[in-house]
Amino acid sequence: RRLGPLLIGLTLLLSACGREDLSTLRPQGSVAEGQYGLMKLSIGIMIFVMVVVFGIAAYVWVKFRRKPGQNEIPEQVEGNFKLEVIWTAIPIILVLILAVPTIQKVFAFGEDYSADKNAIKVKVTSHLFWWEFTYPDYGITTAQDLIIPTNKKIALELKTADVLHSFWVPSLAGKTDTNTDGTINKTWIETSKEGVYLGKCAELCGPSHAFMEFKVKSVSQDSFDKWVVSMKEPVQTIEDPAVAEVFKSQCLSCHAVGEQGGSAGPNLTGIGSRESIASILLNAEGSGNTVDGKPVKDNLVEWLTDPQLVKPGNKMPSPKEDLGLTDAEIKAIAEYLADSKVSY
Ligand code: CUA
Repeated sequence: RRLGPLLIGLTLLLSACGREDLSTLRPQGSVAEGQYGLMKLSIGIMIFVMVVVFGIAAYVWVKFRRKPGQNEIPEQVEGNFKLEVIWTAIPIILVLILAVPTIQKVFAFGEDYSADKNAIKVKVTSHLFWWEFTYPDYGITTAQDLIIPTNKKIALELKTADVLHSFWVPSLAGKTDTNTDGTINKTWIETSKEGVYLGKCAELCGPSHAFMEFKVKSVSQDSFDKWVVSMKEPVQTIEDPAVAEVFKSQCLSCHAVGEQGGSAGPNLTGIGSRESIASILLNAEGSGNTVDGKPVKDNLVEWLTDPQLVKPGNKMPSPKEDLGLTDAEIKAIAEYLADSKVSY
Protein backbone atom coordinates (compact mmCIF):
# COMPACT_ATOMS: atom_id res chain seq x y z
CA ARG A 1 0.00 0.00 0.00
CA ARG A 2 2.92 2.30 0.67
CA LEU A 3 4.56 1.40 -2.60
CA GLY A 4 1.98 3.24 -4.73
CA PRO A 5 2.56 6.78 -3.45
CA LEU A 6 6.30 6.10 -3.34
CA LEU A 7 6.33 5.09 -6.99
CA ILE A 8 4.20 8.08 -7.98
CA GLY A 9 6.52 10.40 -6.07
CA LEU A 10 9.58 8.85 -7.64
CA THR A 11 8.08 9.13 -11.12
CA LEU A 12 7.29 12.81 -10.57
CA LEU A 13 10.77 13.42 -9.23
CA LEU A 14 12.43 11.72 -12.16
CA SER A 15 10.19 13.33 -14.75
CA ALA A 16 11.22 16.72 -13.39
CA CYS A 17 14.81 15.71 -14.10
CA GLY A 18 13.95 14.93 -17.67
CA ARG A 19 14.03 18.46 -19.04
CA GLU A 20 14.79 17.74 -22.63
CA ASP A 21 16.93 20.80 -23.15
CA LEU A 22 19.10 19.92 -20.14
CA SER A 23 19.71 16.27 -20.88
CA THR A 24 23.08 14.65 -21.45
CA LEU A 25 21.15 11.71 -22.89
CA ARG A 26 20.15 13.75 -25.94
CA PRO A 27 23.53 14.92 -27.17
CA GLN A 28 23.45 17.58 -29.87
CA GLY A 29 27.09 18.29 -30.61
CA SER A 30 30.19 16.28 -31.36
CA VAL A 31 31.64 16.70 -27.86
CA ALA A 32 28.43 15.61 -26.15
CA GLU A 33 28.01 12.74 -28.61
CA GLY A 34 31.49 11.49 -27.71
CA GLN A 35 30.69 11.73 -24.02
CA TYR A 36 27.39 9.92 -24.54
CA GLY A 37 29.31 7.18 -26.36
CA LEU A 38 31.56 6.75 -23.32
CA MET A 39 28.51 6.59 -21.06
CA LYS A 40 26.97 3.87 -23.20
CA LEU A 41 30.24 1.93 -23.28
CA SER A 42 30.71 2.01 -19.51
CA ILE A 43 27.06 1.14 -18.83
CA GLY A 44 27.32 -1.69 -21.38
CA ILE A 45 30.36 -3.10 -19.59
CA MET A 46 28.62 -2.77 -16.22
CA ILE A 47 25.56 -4.62 -17.47
CA PHE A 48 27.75 -7.36 -18.98
CA VAL A 49 29.62 -7.81 -15.67
CA MET A 50 26.40 -7.83 -13.70
CA VAL A 51 24.70 -10.39 -15.91
CA VAL A 52 27.72 -12.73 -15.90
CA VAL A 53 28.33 -12.46 -12.14
CA PHE A 54 24.67 -12.86 -11.17
CA GLY A 55 24.28 -15.64 -13.74
CA ILE A 56 27.16 -17.64 -12.30
CA ALA A 57 25.93 -16.96 -8.76
CA ALA A 58 22.44 -18.20 -9.61
CA TYR A 59 23.87 -21.31 -11.26
CA VAL A 60 25.97 -22.08 -8.19
CA TRP A 61 23.06 -21.52 -5.80
CA VAL A 62 20.88 -23.95 -7.69
CA LYS A 63 23.44 -26.57 -8.64
CA PHE A 64 25.16 -26.84 -5.26
CA ARG A 65 22.18 -26.34 -2.98
CA ARG A 66 21.73 -28.78 -0.16
CA LYS A 67 19.72 -31.72 -1.40
CA PRO A 68 17.22 -33.68 0.74
CA GLY A 69 18.97 -36.24 2.87
CA GLN A 70 22.36 -34.67 2.29
CA ASN A 71 23.91 -34.14 5.69
CA GLU A 72 27.66 -34.25 5.25
CA ILE A 73 29.68 -31.11 4.35
CA PRO A 74 30.72 -31.30 0.69
CA GLU A 75 34.33 -31.46 -0.43
CA GLN A 76 36.13 -28.14 0.21
CA VAL A 77 38.23 -26.83 -2.67
CA GLU A 78 40.99 -24.27 -2.26
CA GLY A 79 42.86 -22.55 -5.06
CA ASN A 80 42.44 -23.03 -8.79
CA PHE A 81 45.20 -21.57 -10.91
CA LYS A 82 43.23 -21.56 -14.16
CA LEU A 83 40.17 -19.86 -12.65
CA GLU A 84 42.28 -17.27 -10.87
CA VAL A 85 44.05 -16.33 -14.08
CA ILE A 86 40.68 -16.00 -15.86
CA TRP A 87 39.07 -13.79 -13.23
CA THR A 88 42.12 -11.57 -13.08
CA ALA A 89 42.49 -11.28 -16.84
CA ILE A 90 38.86 -10.48 -17.66
CA PRO A 91 38.66 -7.33 -15.45
CA ILE A 92 41.98 -6.12 -16.85
CA ILE A 93 40.65 -6.51 -20.39
CA LEU A 94 37.42 -4.71 -19.45
CA VAL A 95 39.30 -1.83 -17.82
CA LEU A 96 41.45 -1.51 -20.95
CA ILE A 97 38.37 -1.48 -23.22
CA LEU A 98 37.04 1.36 -21.07
CA ALA A 99 40.30 3.22 -20.55
CA VAL A 100 41.58 3.51 -24.10
CA PRO A 101 38.62 5.44 -25.60
CA THR A 102 38.16 7.41 -22.38
CA ILE A 103 41.74 8.70 -22.46
CA GLN A 104 41.45 9.44 -26.19
CA LYS A 105 38.25 11.42 -25.63
CA VAL A 106 39.56 13.29 -22.58
CA PHE A 107 42.43 14.61 -24.68
CA ALA A 108 40.17 15.29 -27.67
CA PHE A 109 37.74 17.35 -25.56
CA GLY A 110 40.59 19.34 -24.04
CA GLU A 111 42.02 20.05 -27.49
CA ASP A 112 42.97 23.66 -28.04
CA TYR A 113 41.41 24.98 -31.24
CA SER A 114 42.20 28.62 -30.50
CA ALA A 115 44.90 28.68 -33.17
CA ASP A 116 42.62 27.00 -35.72
CA LYS A 117 41.64 29.53 -38.37
CA ASN A 118 38.26 27.86 -38.89
CA ALA A 119 37.39 27.92 -35.21
CA ILE A 120 35.75 30.80 -33.39
CA LYS A 121 37.49 31.84 -30.24
CA VAL A 122 35.38 32.81 -27.24
CA LYS A 123 36.67 33.81 -23.83
CA VAL A 124 34.26 32.80 -21.11
CA THR A 125 34.38 34.55 -17.75
CA SER A 126 32.12 33.45 -14.93
CA HIS A 127 30.83 35.95 -12.39
CA LEU A 128 28.51 35.75 -9.38
CA PHE A 129 25.95 34.95 -10.99
CA TRP A 130 26.29 35.52 -14.72
CA TRP A 131 28.41 34.62 -17.71
CA GLU A 132 30.47 36.89 -19.89
CA PHE A 133 31.39 35.95 -23.45
CA THR A 134 34.11 37.82 -25.33
CA TYR A 135 34.90 37.23 -29.00
CA PRO A 136 38.44 38.60 -29.32
CA ASP A 137 38.50 38.24 -33.11
CA TYR A 138 35.33 40.30 -33.50
CA GLY A 139 35.79 42.80 -30.68
CA ILE A 140 32.47 41.79 -29.15
CA THR A 141 31.59 41.26 -25.53
CA THR A 142 28.21 39.99 -24.48
CA ALA A 143 26.57 38.23 -21.57
CA GLN A 144 24.27 35.29 -20.95
CA ASP A 145 23.57 34.39 -24.58
CA LEU A 146 26.45 32.74 -26.39
CA ILE A 147 25.70 33.15 -30.08
CA ILE A 148 27.53 30.70 -32.33
CA PRO A 149 27.28 29.47 -35.90
CA THR A 150 26.49 25.80 -36.55
CA ASN A 151 29.09 23.32 -37.76
CA LYS A 152 31.99 25.35 -36.47
CA LYS A 153 34.32 24.56 -33.63
CA ILE A 154 34.00 27.12 -30.87
CA ALA A 155 37.26 27.25 -28.92
CA LEU A 156 36.44 28.23 -25.36
CA GLU A 157 38.90 29.66 -22.87
CA LEU A 158 37.41 29.73 -19.41
CA LYS A 159 38.26 31.71 -16.32
CA THR A 160 36.44 33.22 -13.36
CA ALA A 161 36.21 36.76 -12.05
CA ASP A 162 35.50 35.66 -8.49
CA VAL A 163 34.80 32.17 -7.14
CA LEU A 164 34.82 28.70 -8.63
CA HIS A 165 32.05 28.09 -11.16
CA SER A 166 31.61 25.41 -13.77
CA PHE A 167 30.51 25.83 -17.37
CA TRP A 168 28.03 23.16 -18.38
CA VAL A 169 25.80 22.78 -21.41
CA PRO A 170 24.41 19.26 -20.85
CA SER A 171 23.40 18.62 -24.44
CA LEU A 172 26.62 20.07 -25.92
CA ALA A 173 29.51 19.43 -23.56
CA GLY A 174 30.42 18.30 -20.09
CA LYS A 175 31.41 20.49 -17.21
CA THR A 176 34.50 22.63 -17.34
CA ASP A 177 35.53 24.46 -14.18
CA THR A 178 36.48 28.11 -14.19
CA ASN A 179 39.46 28.19 -11.85
CA THR A 180 40.23 30.71 -9.15
CA ASP A 181 44.02 30.42 -9.44
CA GLY A 182 44.20 32.20 -12.79
CA THR A 183 44.78 29.08 -14.85
CA ILE A 184 42.69 28.98 -17.99
CA ASN A 185 40.75 25.85 -18.86
CA LYS A 186 40.13 25.11 -22.49
CA THR A 187 37.36 23.18 -24.11
CA TRP A 188 35.31 23.40 -27.27
CA ILE A 189 31.79 22.91 -28.48
CA GLU A 190 30.29 22.32 -31.88
CA THR A 191 26.63 22.10 -32.86
CA SER A 192 25.33 20.23 -35.86
CA LYS A 193 21.96 21.93 -35.93
CA GLU A 194 20.49 25.30 -35.10
CA GLY A 195 18.80 25.67 -31.76
CA VAL A 196 18.97 26.94 -28.23
CA TYR A 197 20.95 24.88 -25.76
CA LEU A 198 20.57 25.63 -22.08
CA GLY A 199 23.64 25.99 -19.93
CA LYS A 200 24.06 25.95 -16.18
CA CYS A 201 26.66 26.68 -13.59
CA ALA A 202 27.57 23.25 -12.27
CA GLU A 203 29.52 24.23 -9.16
CA LEU A 204 27.84 25.43 -5.98
CA CYS A 205 28.98 29.04 -5.89
CA GLY A 206 26.58 31.02 -3.72
CA PRO A 207 22.94 31.75 -2.92
CA SER A 208 21.94 32.20 -6.56
CA HIS A 209 23.93 29.29 -7.97
CA ALA A 210 20.69 27.70 -9.17
CA PHE A 211 19.88 30.83 -11.20
CA MET A 212 23.25 31.00 -12.91
CA GLU A 213 21.99 29.89 -16.27
CA PHE A 214 23.00 30.85 -19.77
CA LYS A 215 22.09 29.92 -23.30
CA VAL A 216 24.01 28.75 -26.30
CA LYS A 217 22.17 29.92 -29.40
CA SER A 218 23.34 28.14 -32.48
CA VAL A 219 22.39 29.96 -35.68
CA SER A 220 23.33 29.77 -39.35
CA GLN A 221 26.59 31.32 -40.48
CA ASP A 222 24.61 34.10 -42.20
CA SER A 223 22.72 34.89 -39.03
CA PHE A 224 25.92 34.87 -37.05
CA ASP A 225 27.54 37.33 -39.46
CA LYS A 226 24.46 39.49 -39.22
CA TRP A 227 24.66 39.40 -35.43
CA VAL A 228 28.32 40.44 -35.48
CA VAL A 229 27.45 43.47 -37.62
CA SER A 230 24.40 44.25 -35.52
CA MET A 231 26.35 44.14 -32.25
CA LYS A 232 28.73 46.79 -33.57
CA GLU A 233 26.15 49.18 -34.91
CA PRO A 234 25.78 52.49 -33.05
CA VAL A 235 23.24 52.10 -30.27
CA GLN A 236 20.14 54.16 -29.66
CA THR A 237 20.27 56.49 -26.70
CA ILE A 238 17.52 57.26 -24.22
CA GLU A 239 15.27 60.03 -25.54
CA ASP A 240 14.64 61.86 -22.29
CA PRO A 241 17.93 63.73 -21.57
CA ALA A 242 17.44 63.58 -17.79
CA VAL A 243 16.96 59.80 -17.81
CA ALA A 244 19.82 59.45 -20.27
CA GLU A 245 22.04 61.26 -17.81
CA VAL A 246 20.95 59.00 -14.92
CA PHE A 247 21.55 55.95 -17.09
CA LYS A 248 24.98 57.17 -18.02
CA SER A 249 26.11 58.09 -14.52
CA GLN A 250 24.52 55.19 -12.63
CA CYS A 251 24.22 52.24 -15.01
CA LEU A 252 27.07 52.74 -17.44
CA SER A 253 29.62 52.90 -14.63
CA CYS A 254 29.33 49.09 -14.48
CA HIS A 255 27.51 48.07 -17.65
CA ALA A 256 28.38 48.68 -21.26
CA VAL A 257 25.99 49.47 -24.08
CA GLY A 258 27.71 49.58 -27.44
CA GLU A 259 31.00 51.42 -27.16
CA GLN A 260 30.16 53.12 -23.88
CA GLY A 261 30.29 51.95 -20.30
CA GLY A 262 32.11 49.80 -17.78
CA SER A 263 32.82 46.13 -17.59
CA ALA A 264 32.02 45.21 -13.98
CA GLY A 265 28.49 44.10 -14.85
CA PRO A 266 27.02 42.27 -17.81
CA ASN A 267 27.30 43.98 -21.18
CA LEU A 268 23.81 45.16 -22.09
CA THR A 269 24.21 45.61 -25.84
CA GLY A 270 21.16 44.07 -27.46
CA ILE A 271 19.74 42.94 -24.12
CA GLY A 272 16.20 43.29 -25.50
CA SER A 273 16.89 40.26 -27.69
CA ARG A 274 17.51 37.98 -24.72
CA GLU A 275 14.52 36.02 -23.53
CA SER A 276 15.77 36.23 -19.99
CA ILE A 277 17.74 38.56 -17.85
CA ALA A 278 19.10 37.64 -14.44
CA SER A 279 19.02 34.13 -15.88
CA ILE A 280 15.49 33.14 -15.07
CA LEU A 281 13.48 36.26 -14.62
CA LEU A 282 11.80 36.67 -17.95
CA ASN A 283 10.90 33.09 -18.63
CA ALA A 284 10.51 31.79 -15.09
CA GLU A 285 7.84 29.16 -15.12
CA GLY A 286 4.66 30.18 -13.38
CA SER A 287 5.57 33.85 -13.28
CA GLY A 288 3.33 34.48 -16.25
CA ASN A 289 6.21 36.22 -17.97
CA THR A 290 6.29 35.61 -21.66
CA VAL A 291 8.43 37.15 -24.27
CA ASP A 292 6.12 37.56 -27.20
CA GLY A 293 2.82 37.79 -25.39
CA LYS A 294 3.73 40.13 -22.59
CA PRO A 295 6.25 42.92 -22.67
CA VAL A 296 9.62 42.16 -21.18
CA LYS A 297 9.57 45.54 -19.51
CA ASP A 298 7.48 44.56 -16.48
CA ASN A 299 10.04 41.98 -15.52
CA LEU A 300 12.90 44.37 -16.06
CA VAL A 301 11.13 46.83 -13.80
CA GLU A 302 10.78 44.11 -11.18
CA TRP A 303 14.48 43.33 -11.46
CA LEU A 304 15.60 46.96 -11.38
CA THR A 305 13.41 47.73 -8.41
CA ASP A 306 14.74 44.97 -6.18
CA PRO A 307 17.55 42.84 -7.66
CA GLN A 308 18.16 41.02 -4.37
CA LEU A 309 14.60 39.74 -4.29
CA VAL A 310 14.98 38.22 -7.74
CA LYS A 311 18.49 36.87 -7.45
CA PRO A 312 19.77 36.80 -3.87
CA GLY A 313 23.42 37.59 -3.33
CA ASN A 314 24.03 39.20 -6.71
CA LYS A 315 26.48 42.09 -6.90
CA MET A 316 24.21 44.67 -8.47
CA PRO A 317 23.45 47.65 -6.26
CA SER A 318 19.73 48.31 -5.96
CA PRO A 319 18.92 51.12 -8.41
CA LYS A 320 16.14 52.27 -6.14
CA GLU A 321 17.62 51.80 -2.66
CA ASP A 322 21.31 52.34 -3.30
CA LEU A 323 21.39 54.58 -6.36
CA GLY A 324 18.26 56.59 -5.67
CA LEU A 325 16.51 56.11 -9.00
CA THR A 326 12.84 56.99 -9.08
CA ASP A 327 10.13 54.58 -10.23
CA ALA A 328 9.64 56.68 -13.36
CA GLU A 329 13.36 56.54 -14.19
CA ILE A 330 13.44 52.78 -13.63
CA LYS A 331 10.46 52.33 -15.92
CA ALA A 332 12.00 54.49 -18.64
CA ILE A 333 15.32 52.62 -18.42
CA ALA A 334 13.53 49.26 -18.49
CA GLU A 335 11.65 50.30 -21.61
CA TYR A 336 14.83 51.49 -23.25
CA LEU A 337 16.65 48.24 -22.46
CA ALA A 338 13.74 46.09 -23.63
CA ASP A 339 13.86 47.89 -26.97
CA SER A 340 17.64 47.56 -27.34
CA LYS A 341 17.70 44.70 -29.80
CA VAL A 342 20.21 43.08 -32.05
CA SER A 343 19.32 41.12 -35.15
CA TYR A 344 20.51 37.68 -36.17
CU1 CUA B 1 28.26 29.77 -10.45
CU2 CUA B 1 27.24 27.98 -9.39
